[in-house]
Amino acid sequence: MRRQRATQAGLALVLGALGFGLARATPPVTVSGRVERGRYLVSAIGCGACHTPKTMTATGPKSDPSRFLAGHPEGASLGPPPPLGAGPWVSVSAWDTTAWAGPWGVSYGANLTPDPETGLKKRYNEASFIKTLRTGKKPEGEDLLPPMPWELYKAMSDEDLKALYAYLQTIPAIKNNVKSGAAAPAKPAAPAPKK
Ligand code: HEC
Repeated sequence: MRRQRATQAGLALVLGALGFGLARATPPVTVSGRVERGRYLVSAIGCGACHTPKTMTATGPKSDPSRFLAGHPEGASLGPPPPLGAGPWVSVSAWDTTAWAGPWGVSYGANLTPDPETGLKKRYNEASFIKTLRTGKKPEGEDLLPPMPWELYKAMSDEDLKALYAYLQTIPAIKNNVKSGAAAPAKPAAPAPKK
């Protein structure tokens, strides 16, 4: 019995020491580590699909690296979206996938660059950026319109959301005043199906 207790105590000591060793060995997240992680996440998740303007090539639209994450181009004249029926085709995107229309209204991929007048920096800091991606509410309290997939992103860890924000502070600032989206007027609830 005594020997068993001694063994247990020994084991606890070894595990404790190991744990301590591991905790000590985990490097703190450095600023450059965070930025690199953010770069990786932005490219793997593909924020540019909706936030980077494109140029048309023979094989279709390609992201324009000189306007990386600058949002729907200011001054683009798309005209009103085509009338959309009751479905099953309910939403459309512009050719460059920075402008969308659907039952929610019309929305434009935002300028995610750190431009102080037209970019994220104007209205966001790290805390409000995380809050918006977690709650789907902009700092002013409006809903983030589709197809911004915040409901998927809200599952990311605090550290990953911080990394996204840190990286977005390091990309070139581009002045591009993106139009505000327009939420569709609320429709009356659909009538109950006939029996
Ligand atoms: C499928 C398209 C799509 C993808 C992919 C996407 N977004 Fe968006 N995002 C949008 C649209 C559209 C808006 C504008 C919504 C609105 O007007 O309410 C938006 C808005 C935002 C906003 C709010 C900007 C503001 O002005 O308040 C942030 C922040 C944002 N996106 C970050 C990201 C990040 C970071 C990623 C990648 C991890 C990403 N988005 C991926 C479509 C997308």
